[in-house]
Amino acid sequence: MNDILVLYYSHTGAVREMAQIVARGVESVPGARARLRTVPKVSSVCEAVEADIPDSGSPYVELKDLTECAGLALGSPTRFGNMAAPLKYFLDGSGGLWLNGALAGKPAAVFTSTATQHGGQESTLLSMMLPLLHHGMVIVGVPYTEPELSATASGGTPYGASHVAGMDSVRPLSEDERRLCLALGRRLAQVAVKLAR
Ligand SMILES: Cc1cc2nc3c(=O)[nH]c(=O)nc-3n(C[C@H](O)[C@H](O)[C@H](O)COP(=O)(O)O)c2cc1C
Repeated sequence: MNDILVLYYSHTGAVREMAQIVARGVESVPGARARLRTVPKVSSVCEAVEADIPDSGSPYVELKDLTECAGLALGSPTRFGNMAAPLKYFLDGSGGLWLNGALAGKPAAVFTSTATQHGGQESTLLSMMLPLLHHGMVIVGVPYTEPELSATASGGTPYGASHVAGMDSVRPLSEDERRLCLALGRRLAQVAVKLAR
């Protein structure tokens, strides 16, 4: 069985919902299993520490999740056109894996949610790819053979799945956005299973 790490940060729930759908896409592929993980918030108070296990939701990720898994789907809310700090903080702690080339050759995909239609989805997705490329990961996007990519009137990009959540962050995922999350998870898992053979 090939585990695919679906690692996300979510403050108000939109990216968490996307992660759950990406995970369903992963699990639609025979031989693939999703491992959902999140990261704690970062704090401006240096002494603040989170419990090792969150009160609810996905467990916190550990570096060994990255090494044990055959692929990675990384999801973040857009923060000023970039990924959220808690995810960046976790990735900044992965230098040891980079030194060993532990992630080189593994497939990876990215997804994001924004408040507004033109609020920086592409810049977030592209910048999320940068540390993954430094790790030598093989980026998997969403091809235009997915019909929803041409049809969507909200989120969905060839760089990864995306969602426009609205200013109050309560707009549900559209059917096209859902299908593109599923397609991303499925494609990532298919590539991971093929590479593992
Ligand atoms: C500090 C901060 C910066 C943000 N920057 C952007 C932005 O650049 N563009 C945008 O459209 N939305 C921006 N948002 C809104 C979030 O990306 C959006 O609400 C997202 O859907 C939240 O995902 P979540 O529900 O998983 O936390 C920002 C929100 C915060 C708190």
